[in-house]
Amino acid sequence: MHLHASKVLVTGGNGAIGCNLVQKLLASGTNVTVLDDFSQSSIHNLNNHKNLKIIKGDLLNSKILKKTFSNDFDAVFHLAARFANEMSVYDPVEDLRVNIEGTLKILLESAKKNVNRFVYTSSSSLYGQTNLIKKNESLFPKPTTPYAVSKLSGEFYCNAIHEQYGMDYSIVRLSNSYGPYDPPGKYRNVIPNFIQSALKNKNIVITGTGNETRDFTFVDDVVNGIILAAKKPKARNEIFNLGTGKETKISTIAQLIKKNTNSKSKIIFKPKRKFDHITRRKMDISKAKKLLGYSPKTDIKDGIFKTCEWFSQNR
Ligand SMILES: NC(=O)c1ccc[n+]([C@@H]2O[C@H](COP(=O)([O-])OP(=O)(O)OC[C@H]3O[C@@H](n4cnc5c(N)ncnc54)[C@H](O)[C@@H]3O)[C@@H](O)[C@H]2O)c1
Repeated sequence: MHLHASKVLVTGGNGAIGCNLVQKLLASGTNVTVLDDFSQSSIHNLNNHKNLKIIKGDLLNSKILKKTFSNDFDAVFHLAARFANEMSVYDPVEDLRVNIEGTLKILLESAKKNVNRFVYTSSSSLYGQTNLIKKNESLFPKPTTPYAVSKLSGEFYCNAIHEQYGMDYSIVRLSNSYGPYDPPGKYRNVIPNFIQSALKNKNIVITGTGNETRDFTFVDDVVNGIILAAKKPKARNEIFNLGTGKETKISTIAQLIKKNTNSKSKIIFKPKRKFDHITRRKMDISKAKKLLGYSPKTDIKDGIFKTCEWFSQNR
């Protein structure tokens, strides 16, 4: 797929990763349609652009689906989802509705319209509780939250629809994306929540010991990986981990944020959240490196610096 002059749909295109992806696609000359209900993201994320069309609505609404797929698309990037593990524990049925039924509906409409490539953003959380810290794509998933189950189900549906209708897909399993436009909030990610506390000189609360690790990936690298998965012939009907291949402790993240925001916040510790059983995780990205030419560029220090700078200017 060549990006220039191609037509794509980005579901969830107003979200934290979606709006970064949309901006990159527009800059490459792509015509972009965004389908988003704005339930989890700010109306200020995307500016008007001559090649951008925004359809505001629920992807489960049949009128909205009809309107969206009255257009033809070369590729569909399916990012819309209920986010994420914690929210799914409180409302597993709504998680299933949006992440499984919603994904199936977008897949079926895309297949009917002969979309060339369906890119599905899956999650590293589907690996769940396995003893191996470094996750590779062939590990048997052991999801421990409804969200991890729903993201895994979406992967299975990509393959089932490919088998039934012949539509090609690429699956990217993302790992703890962070960067500009990632909003803080009750069910949101640790980095924007720590930054918000630091900027207000409030306590930075770590749930656990602080020695827990994740493979935090700067959003520009995530977006590059997603686009490579759409473009590369070798990515057809394959699954790729996208991360950095490195783990960072939560306590390191808290300290870096405190330093970059010149904050007077104290770092304090509270008991682990009940649903969170995963203590350490990093991604094996060798497959994405080999087949996609994926190469994450931003290390954690630079990424946290850029993210803090963005939040300081945009709060
Ligand atoms: N951010 C991460 O660290 C991470 C990690 C792994 C996987 N992912 C996956 O990547 C994708 C994008 O993540 P994100 O961080 O940008 O999430 P996000 O919550 O910021 O964006 C999702 C977007 O989907 C929209 N949306 C939700 N329900 C909808 C519905 N019913 N109809 C239409 N739009 C709807 C929201 O308003 C939001 O703009 C998701 O599929 C997520 O599961 C993200």
